[in-house]
Amino acid sequence: MIPLARPVLGPEEEAAVVEVLRSGQLSLGPRLGAFERAFAARVGAPHASAVSSGTAGLHLALRAAGVEDGTEVVTSPFSFVASANAVLYERARPVFADIDPVTLNLDPEAAGAAVTDRTAALLPVHIFGHPADVPALERLGLPIVEDACEALGAVHADGVPVGGRGHPAVFAFYANKQMTTGEGGVVVCADPAVKARMDSERNQGRAPDMGWLDHDRLGFNYRLSDLACALGLAQLERLDDMLAARERVAGWYAEALAGIDELELPTPGAGGDRRSWFVYVVQVPRGVDRDAAISALRARGVDSKPYLPAIHLYSFYRERFGHRPGEFPVCEDVAARSLALPFFPGLGEGEVAQVAEALAAVLGQRVLT
Ligand SMILES: Cc1ncc(COP(=O)(O)O)c(C=O)c1O
Repeated sequence: MIPLARPVLGPEEEAAVVEVLRSGQLSLGPRLGAFERAFAARVGAPHASAVSSGTAGLHLALRAAGVEDGTEVVTSPFSFVASANAVLYERARPVFADIDPVTLNLDPEAAGAAVTDRTAALLPVHIFGHPADVPALERLGLPIVEDACEALGAVHADGVPVGGRGHPAVFAFYANKQMTTGEGGVVVCADPAVKARMDSERNQGRAPDMGWLDHDRLGFNYRLSDLACALGLAQLERLDDMLAARERVAGWYAEALAGIDELELPTPGAGGDRRSWFVYVVQVPRGVDRDAAISALRARGVDSKPYLPAIHLYSFYRERFGHRPGEFPVCEDVAARSLALPFFPGLGEGEVAQVAEALAAVLGQRVLT
């Protein structure tokens, strides 16, 4: 079976983790600050706070942006569920707006129309590594938190890396991401006060300069261990190679799948933006039973999955907020047809050809060579 994802881990990662084990300082040690500084430099942000997951990072960043009980956050319904869930942690309401059919990101016009006097923040998601139109959202004049969990390495059309615009931006390091720390995340930001608040809140609200004796605010345990930070430092060293390998695999897919009629392929970048390749998600032709295609692909030794379902149509969101099909037609159409194919740096050109042939056969076509 060709799997969907596989991380790149080598002796460098092993040595980095073993070194921390031998040092005896497994958390809040020197790797934490070293990883934060290296990561911030990588995306061109002044500060970074490492946290236990992307979800934890979203929670802290939203709190820092002023999201609280009774407020609203305008966000994309085409995302991993964590972006909307993080809003609910503060008893705020995620207000969805439809997406752009090419980039699959929050449509700034729809986002603007969803703003009310209760809107505390905008939460664009750089979905599948394609930059969201943050410059257009900035014109709405509201605080922005960026969900960049899938977008490490992506670049906006004006040359600014995703995460480098000054808004709190959250990255994630689960094992399917562009780089991994097993589990983990980072929030980058420009404001040192936001960094200080997040550093405290990830560590039970402990005041950084007050030793053990004072916890001057509500906090959480969202710390990232030094073991994970060491892994992250080693992964950053090989990030350029891993991103280049992903881009190469995406190029092979684009060629291999180009002849399949009515199959929609992901854009490497619309309007001058540059995607960081996180997954390879195609849209099957309208009228094709996508879920049957997934079963048929599995029978041919290819793993694939629907990626992603629309958040507002999950049972929890339907029941809690009364969402119904038809509210966000672009998102719903994309979600119904989306199919993630195996995609990771070590995938070979032959395997890509195998996937393409299997997909073509499942769709009742032949790959044109
Ligand atoms: C768009 C998006 N947001 C948030 C997250 C949450 O990250 P984590 O799984 O590290 O909590 C992920 C990753 O899984 C994601 O893809």
